[in-house]
Amino acid sequence: MRTIDVIVREVGLRDGLQIHPTFMPTASKLAWIAAEAAAGVGEIEVTSYVPPKLIAQFTDAGEVTRGALAVPGLTVTALIPNFKGAERGLSLGVHKLNFVMSVSKTHNLKNVRREREESVADFGKIVEMVKAQSEGRRPRIVGGLSTALGCSFEGRVPVADVVKYALLLAEAGADELVVADTVGYADPAQVRAVFKAVMAEVGSLPIAAHFHDTRGTGLANVGAALECGVRAFDASLAGLGGCPFAPGATGNIVMDDLCFMLDSMGLTTGVDLEQLLQVRRIVRAALPDIEMQGALARAGLPRNYVRAEQRQAA
Ligand code: COA
Ligand code: ZN
Repeated sequence: MRTIDVIVREVGLRDGLQIHPTFMPTASKLAWIAAEAAAGVGEIEVTSYVPPKLIAQFTDAGEVTRGALAVPGLTVTALIPNFKGAERGLSLGVHKLNFVMSVSKTHNLKNVRREREESVADFGKIVEMVKAQSEGRRPRIVGGLSTALGCSFEGRVPVADVVKYALLLAEAGADELVVADTVGYADPAQVRAVFKAVMAEVGSLPIAAHFHDTRGTGLANVGAALECGVRAFDASLAGLGGCPFAPGATGNIVMDDLCFMLDSMGLTTGVDLEQLLQVRRIVRAALPDIEMQGALARAGLPRNYVRAEQRQAA
């Protein structure tokens, strides 16, 4: 059995496509999902259950979810902003529901049109509904905290507020939390402060990190979160990404570069780097005008590179 030290989760199909004006054909989305799963990425956020009137890119959320669920061994997740999104996810049989609320008041109002307390109350009702499902039908429910490391409306976000909402979501029954730097303000010192504070309060609940590389600090932030003990990271192939309701946010950390950095550090991800790089072609062919980032794609693997798994086996 292959062991995986760090879980990498692709979010480009949601975070990357939500701001892209051109609709990516459903068949291309499914080809991307299948190819990236084949390259070894075990968890993919495949879509978002939001009103299609609001984000037309996700008009095909049902079809994409059903197609992704047919990929063997893949954990299929989707974003939900409210109870209705959770109901859609349950009826489709998605494996994980990624609920999102923001730590900053203004972004929560702009993004999901609610006060933070209303989002927490929504989350409680969602958890109740999810936990009433029979064992085989019950998805995992994730509490996501956007703007936890800064907000493009409010600026710095107090650590105490991040801890407060993390605790509220944990107490409501989250199976896992995601702490997100939605707009890419964070630096490694801040990451250490925030993750340590949250982890000290929520005990053994798994905590994932979601970083944007808006100001070039993305992978340094991963290093800081790794030191705190975080072992699950969101990223997007070619660094696609951004929030339509957070001005100035650019792409997520680049999946390809994240996998290379982790593998180089001797942390296995299960991902075949060369195969992963090939997946970029699917995105490029479907969306010729989309901006794609990536240092590994530009520079290639180091000469005679030996993967972490093989180094460990030798
Ligand atoms: N999926 C599909 N339709 C939904 C829905 C969902 N999750 N939630 C609400 N709707 C529908 C309602 O049924 C209603 O339809 P109708 O006009 O035909 O009656 C309509 O959308 C408005 O519903 P309402 O509950 O009043 O929502 P709202 O207008 O207050 O918007 C959210 C609230 C949360 C649905 C919306 O702000 C949202 O989707 N935000 C997420 C934004 C996002 O994706 N950001 C990027 C990710 S971080
Ligand atoms: Zn994001």
